[in-house]
Amino acid sequence: MAVPGNRPSADARDWWREAVCYQVYLRSFADGNGDGVGDLIGLYQRLPYLVGLGVDALWINPWFPSPMVDGGYDVADYRAIDPVFGTLSDARAMIEEIHALGLRLLIDIVPNHTSSQHPWFRAALAGGPDCVERDRYIFRPGVGPEGDAPPNNWRSVFGGSAWTRIVEPDGRAGSWYLHLFAPEQPDVNWDSPLVRREFESILRFWFDLGVDGIRIDVAHAMVKAPGLPDLGPSDIELLASAAHPDHPHWDREGVHEIFRGWRAVADSYPEPRVFLAEACVGASERLARYVRADELHTAFNFDYLTASWRADTLRIAINSSLSAMAAVGAPAIWALSNHDVVRHLTRYGRPQSDGPVHTLANHSPPGPVDLALGTRRARAAVLLMLALPGGVYLYQGEELGLWEVEDLPEETLQDPTWERSGHTDRGRDGCRLPMPWSGDAPPFGFSPDHAQKVPWLPQPPQWKQLTAQAQTGDEQSMLELYRKALHIRRVHPALGEGSLAWDSTAVPDVLSFTRPPGFRCVVNLGQGAVPLPDHREVLLSSVPLEAGLLPGDAAVWLAR
Ligand code: GLC
Repeated sequence: MAVPGNRPSADARDWWREAVCYQVYLRSFADGNGDGVGDLIGLYQRLPYLVGLGVDALWINPWFPSPMVDGGYDVADYRAIDPVFGTLSDARAMIEEIHALGLRLLIDIVPNHTSSQHPWFRAALAGGPDCVERDRYIFRPGVGPEGDAPPNNWRSVFGGSAWTRIVEPDGRAGSWYLHLFAPEQPDVNWDSPLVRREFESILRFWFDLGVDGIRIDVAHAMVKAPGLPDLGPSDIELLASAAHPDHPHWDREGVHEIFRGWRAVADSYPEPRVFLAEACVGASERLARYVRADELHTAFNFDYLTASWRADTLRIAINSSLSAMAAVGAPAIWALSNHDVVRHLTRYGRPQSDGPVHTLANHSPPGPVDLALGTRRARAAVLLMLALPGGVYLYQGEELGLWEVEDLPEETLQDPTWERSGHTDRGRDGCRLPMPWSGDAPPFGFSPDHAQKVPWLPQPPQWKQLTAQAQTGDEQSMLELYRKALHIRRVHPALGEGSLAWDSTAVPDVLSFTRPPGFRCVVNLGQGAVPLPDHREVLLSSVPLEAGLLPGDAAVWLAR
């Protein structure tokens, strides 16, 4: 299929309001040097694939030097590239090529915590109890006569206490430091002016290099309540508790002042740079506060991502997001999967619950998986998502119909959640496997033929049918569906930003809406048959319409 140039608005200053952005989980995208880990050379070589897919922008997960305790979200140096991924000059070449191809690039900054190997934290440990470097982190004395109980009852998202006690340079047991994630990820003290200056300088470093935007990791965690009060009984449920008012470490008012400062940095460029918040907060109205006109540009919509495959749940998530974002003039941002959650094809292949089927703290929901059902629903889901007003994030591999790999051998698991949960939660490795590109057997073209090592996580042999090569040219494949859908969105700019009107005559289990100047999207999530539209008007459907939308089937079409 011919690839047209960027849609008109893609060059405009507000390209981000309706861009389709592809999330590159670098470790698993393409291995250029044969060490079993994805890298910048591999990505560079595969950029034509992304252009052919039809996306507007890329978001790359953290690429900085890191001990990789948490897949790179433990950053040891914010102004360099981890050698496993390449060099700063590889990054420069990559940015140039991305722009030459008409794409944009977002990177991922981790401001809530550094790696415990960051020079700041090492200096804070080495300098002893009274050194100034300790003020860059959150150190507190322990409780009790010996100080051997943690300062409060906060919990790590990965399991266990959020506090670790240090050994002072003289060998005595010392104070404790806070880590809302792994112990190797000490939380930074955002009350420190030095911390604030340093991160603004890091933003400028990457913006000066030509990066178009930045995703902000756990944007809702950076500010803690004065005095670090204990969590109340209802706050203990970790991420879900972000919805509770006045939570001591999630969604504090103070984060907004930080982001107003960051917005001024982004706006100081002739072509303003953009931000994307990862903020797991309760109601859409709370999320909207992060994207007010003088704060961040966009924020992930986790209500939609975690919604079950039910018409009522999806309709509520769509409506609440659209109205909350419209109230502050921001676009809604839709995604179905990312590197932290069970792949949506697998989630949709399970019996659907009334509430969210997945949160960060629950990686292995129970229940048998029907992959054929999940695939059919995933086909409908992407057409629905691409017909919604706003921006879209695709997670690498969803265009191939990859499923969650839930039976990885225990000895291969790398997510810190596995150890921290006492081997009760297998963590997020199952959605992070290396991409299958070509061939009949692992590594499926992920690594070059001369590779020294096998991929860092083993791929299932069944992915032979799902390689990009196997699907290319197969009109019924997931990959060709994505290509066609992205092509349609690209040639019809009206499918980007704009309004949506629900069809009031549709039965409750059918999602049906129109978009000016006459597009129509219909998804049958129910048990009854849906009458077919005039075939001549169908732009795209997730199942061949000749067969009709049988009871229990799900399909989407777009009609003019
Ligand atoms: C975010 C990232 C996740 C990481 C965590 C801690 O939620 O998406 O992968 O583990 O932050 O940095």
